[in-house]
Amino acid sequence: MSAEPARASRAPTAFAVGRLRLTDFRGYAGLDLRVPATPIVLVGANGAGKTNLLEALSLLAPGRGLRGARLAEIGRFGAGPWAVHAEIAGPRGAIAIGTGLAPADLAEEDDDDLEASGRRVLRIDGKPARGAQALARTVAALWLTPEMDRLLLDSASARRRFVDRLVVSLEPEHARRLSAYQKALRERTRILRETPSAASWLDAIEATLAETGVALAAARNAAIADLGRELIQAAGPFPRAAVALEGGIESALALRPALAVEDEFRRLLAAGRSRDAETGGAAEGPHRTDLAVRYVDKDRPAALCSTGEQKALLLSLTLAQVELVTARRGGAPVLLLDEVVAHLDADRRAALFDRLAALGCQAWMTGTDAALFAPLAGRAVQFAVAAARLEAMS
Ligand SMILES: Nc1ncnc2c1ncn2[C@@H]1O[C@H](COP(=O)(O)OP(=O)(O)OP(=O)(O)O)[C@@H](O)[C@H]1O
Ligand SMILES: [Mg+2]
Repeated sequence: MSAEPARASRAPTAFAVGRLRLTDFRGYAGLDLRVPATPIVLVGANGAGKTNLLEALSLLAPGRGLRGARLAEIGRFGAGPWAVHAEIAGPRGAIAIGTGLAPADLAEEDDDDLEASGRRVLRIDGKPARGAQALARTVAALWLTPEMDRLLLDSASARRRFVDRLVVSLEPEHARRLSAYQKALRERTRILRETPSAASWLDAIEATLAETGVALAAARNAAIADLGRELIQAAGPFPRAAVALEGGIESALALRPALAVEDEFRRLLAAGRSRDAETGGAAEGPHRTDLAVRYVDKDRPAALCSTGEQKALLLSLTLAQVELVTARRGGAPVLLLDEVVAHLDADRRAALFDRLAALGCQAWMTGTDAALFAPLAGRAVQFAVAAARLEAMS
């Protein structure tokens, strides 16, 4: 036997969509697309439907997708419920995912999903599934979009979601921890508002908050430490970034054992009841954590860097995440790069393409100018997108 099959079986199998079907999704009345496990280039004019297609793919990961859209607004104007079906290969084999908006008569209230909406239905291999964790286990997907340009400037919540998305892609159980924490937080707020004297009830909720909060802070610490190592090692034309979590619980975990931090957090919550009853929410906890990013070689916080430098830093962060997910999950995640390539100079473009190819990453890349993708010839498939239709380009 030749050595070829053995070598092939050792190569990691990236997560890759083999077939994507859309029904009444944004501008797409119906799309049935078959693609290989290579980078995919979507070229088309403004408004052609490129981002919409990436958005559909992003809904294969937990959450509200790359636009953070409400489920009802995704459906094609004037049409029935939308649906996304995908056949996905991954390190643990092939799987079929179907997701969409439930017809109104099937809708049920549900509050413990990352989606925080009971109207999204999910089927994995044809069987009804629930919850963000089920999706997170099935597929790993990451993205970088123009809307994220302000990530390093805007409020902490966007950066916190960015961190949690990374952690979920490394450890799918994180999705369940997050849901449990958020649910307990909402529950505590409700009790403080309606029956603030229910002390034993509050004790129980705060114990849950402390336990899940410390677990999720610990998972973030581990992921950000790994990301930091990956970022510092990274060679090539992208800027080196340093990352650090800024959160009371995360910091305490670096100094004291988890059980001690859990006790402290529980005491902090109990002591803050009357204040939190007035303000709503909770003044302290991992729901307030931020991510600090620095441009290492300029020794400067990312927020003080130029727009172009910030874009490059975000790409460094994204590529480091791809490396980490590849190592941890046994295959590269599906990567969605919306309008990223247009902002890179020729050297960085070439470096990006080479790195994605080396990782075997199914990166979906959009742009308005086909010429920018020329160095990918023979390594990617290209589609021309116009009026929500795709045509393979030779
Ligand atoms: N729910 C919807 N139903 C039908 N069409 C929609 C819906 N939501 C958005 N659209 C339309 O889909 C079109 C394509 O949008 P999309 O964002 O995918 O374009 P694009 O190819 O990424 O363009 P650009 O290069 O400007 O980013 C837009 O004209 C938009 O108005
Ligand atoms: Mg777009």
